[in-house]
This record gives sequence, C-alpha cells and structure tokens, in this order.
Amino acid sequence: MDDLENGRNKGMSRRLFLKRAGLFGAAVSAPGLLAACGGAETAGEQASPAATGAASPTGAATAAPSPTGSPAAGGDTLRVGLMVPLSGTYASLGEDMRNGFQMYLDENGGMLGGRTVEVVEAETEANPEVGLRVAQRLIEEDRVAMVTGIVSSAVALGVRDLFHESQVPLIVSNAGANDVTRAAMSPYIFRTSFSNWQSSYSIGEWAYENVADSDIFVIAPDYAAGAEDIAAFREAYEAAGGTVLEGALPPFGTTQDYQPFLSEIQNSGARGTFAFFAGGEAINFVQQYRDFGLKDAIPLIGPGFLTDEGVLEAQGDAAAGLRTSLHYTPLLDNETNNTFRAAYEEAFGESPTVYAVQSYDAAQLIALTLDAVGGETDDVDAVVEAMENVGSIDSPRGSFEIDPETHNPIQTFYLREVQEVEGALGNVPIEDLGVFTDPGAS
Ligand code: BEZ
Repeated sequence: MDDLENGRNKGMSRRLFLKRAGLFGAAVSAPGLLAACGGAETAGEQASPAATGAASPTGAATAAPSPTGSPAAGGDTLRVGLMVPLSGTYASLGEDMRNGFQMYLDENGGMLGGRTVEVVEAETEANPEVGLRVAQRLIEEDRVAMVTGIVSSAVALGVRDLFHESQVPLIVSNAGANDVTRAAMSPYIFRTSFSNWQSSYSIGEWAYENVADSDIFVIAPDYAAGAEDIAAFREAYEAAGGTVLEGALPPFGTTQDYQPFLSEIQNSGARGTFAFFAGGEAINFVQQYRDFGLKDAIPLIGPGFLTDEGVLEAQGDAAAGLRTSLHYTPLLDNETNNTFRAAYEEAFGESPTVYAVQSYDAAQLIALTLDAVGGETDDVDAVVEAMENVGSIDSPRGSFEIDPETHNPIQTFYLREVQEVEGALGNVPIEDLGVFTDPGAS
C-alpha cells in the first residue's frame, strides 16, 4: 500500500511502528497486524484458524473454540470482530478506525465491561462480496461475540441480513447507508457514525442561504453512499427553495481523472458544486478541481469527508477555504475532545479523524453495554436492550445519544472551514448547524 493510495503521508517513526506492532497495547496481536497487510484476497483462500490453530485469515490470532462451542460468550476473553478496509480508496479510513478502537482499549487496560478483549481484524476492502465473506468467517469460525467497523455503505448493506439472522450485534462505525437504520433496521445493528442523510441534509439549507439559491451541481461516486448523499442534499436544498442541476456519478474506486466531470461542471452554468468524496478520491477530486481553475469560480462544498484530517495534508492549498459539514473536527473545543486529541496525537503522530472517533465511540458503546449486563453476552436480547439504553455517550464530538427507534446517533453537525491553524491546515468549526435526527423509516 503506497502513501498516495493510503490517502496521506504516513511516514512512521520507529517509535510509532513499535507502538503499533505490539508494545502499544495488547489487544490486536502481531499476527493480526501482519495478516491485515496481506489483503482480503489471500485471506479468503486460507483454511479456518479453528481447524488449523493458526493465525486467523481475517487478521488476528485466535484461540480454538471452547468445548461448549461458545468461546466468545461467557469466557474471560471477549472476541470482537473489526471489519475495515486496509487497501484501496478507503484504506486510510480503515486504519483510523483501527486506531480509534485500539486507543479506547489501551485506555482501559485492554478490557471492555470487565472482559479482556481480543480483536479479530477482517479486511473488507470496499467490496460487498469480500465484506460478506469475512463477516461469515468472523461469525461462524472466529465465533466473535460482536462486530464493529465497516466503512462502505455497500458493505454494510451486503452484511445486514447476515447479522440480523445470526443475531450477532453489529456496531457500524462509519458506513452511512440510510436503510441500515431505516427500512432494513435490525434489533442487532447499531451505528456510532451517521446516516448518509444526516451528513448531507445538514448542509442543504446553509448552501441555499450562503452559496447560491439555485443551480448547484451535485457529484459523488457511483455507489449507495454517493446516491444517498446527493438525494439528501437535494432534499434539504430544494426544501429551502433551490434547484439542483443534473449532476454526475463517476465510477467508484477506479476514477483517477475527473477532467470530463470538471468540464461538465464548468459548462453547466453551476453556481456551486456539492461533492461527496472520501479517502483517495477526495484528494484527487479537490486537487483537480483547483487545477482545472474551478476553485475560485464555483464554490465547492460537501460533507466533511471531503477535507478530513486524513486527506488535508495531501490536498494542501487546494483545500484551503473549503466549507463542509460534519459531526466532528479535532478543533472542537470541549474537554473530552481536547484530551482525546492530545492522546491520539501522542499515540499515532497525527490528528484524529472522524473515523477514529466513531470507532473509539463504538468501543465506548460496547463497554457501557457490557457494564450494564455484567459482562455477559450469552443473552443477546439483554445485550441489545442494554445497548439501546446506554443514554448519553461522552464523545470527542460532544455528547450524543443513540436513537432507540432507529439505532442511529442523534447529534450536532458543524459547518467547518479549512484554515491554517498553528502552521497546518485544519477544519475550523465556524457554525453550529443544529442537531440532526435521521427521520428513520416513515
Ligand atoms: C459510506 O460508504 O457510507 C461512506 C464512505 C466513506 C465516508 C463516508 C461514508
């Protein structure tokens, strides 16, 4: 995985490398780290660790199942699956989610709710078929008690039925697919991130009032999240009185050159551009938008993934001044975030991203739940009920609650502007856009 693909310059000091490779906390084993670098294709072809006693192909060393056939539940060690992409467009997002989860574990001596945790890592890419295959393995072979992670909406939609039917709790810590907490809502699936509706609806009215009152071009990668983000922006912008132009959906994961789409924007008469891109695609799009001469002519806005801290350094000046909406920026000034940011920077040598926070909060949600059920996971209905009732979560994003109706966070969104802060670019919160609750299935 090279730095460009990974979405940032991740030049890692020896100190950091040692921290990540085992001296930093104990939960993810060294074989896990090594296997995770191998990618899903290799992983998919290996024999079950339960059969071989070897390191899990999904990414971590696993113990053989107990004679009761329930190694994850009831024993001392709680086995938690972590499904993340570690290659391709969203690789850096997956790494941040791994870091956030690990940080909460390390802060708590490797334990959640009184149980020592073993993280079983599974590489999903951003591919629903790979996601389904590794989820099956986590549930059937690694016998995890619960699973967290998942970056891509397409992967989340692909594994929804498996988790629903197997009744293994899943805490989605990024993917925003609306249906996961709407029509396809499951008692066993929770989310610590956002719905795609939330992240794009939140900037619609502001765009109407502050960017242009008509003719916004909409562009996003051609998969579930892209379509949902555009629909949510359009819903809010049109409700305010605006009209959205036709727009474009470049192929996801393969588009390197956005020139044809940038020409389309230029020739469309657009007065603004709404764009949902993340990871490597956000770097390319933002740089090419500037290089094509559009940055100063047609204001570019979108959900905050477009300029998150994992891509800002690579985007450089091309991102300066861009305004986006999100439920987090490391520059939020609250006590929990100030402590979290300092600890994260110390541990990983870089700013935390929203992906790290959502995964940190997934670990928090598991801990609060297990505290409520005395660390016992055999009774899944009790686990689900406890998870629904954890109340306010003290997150670096600010306190938020999980809506018991949808299992989606109810949270504040901020308008952020990319500015230079202490010699580096950062997302400065400039306006509170309000608390957004996903409408759920109506
Ligand atoms: C998604 O697929 O839901 C997604 C991916 C990256 C950033 C935000 C959302």
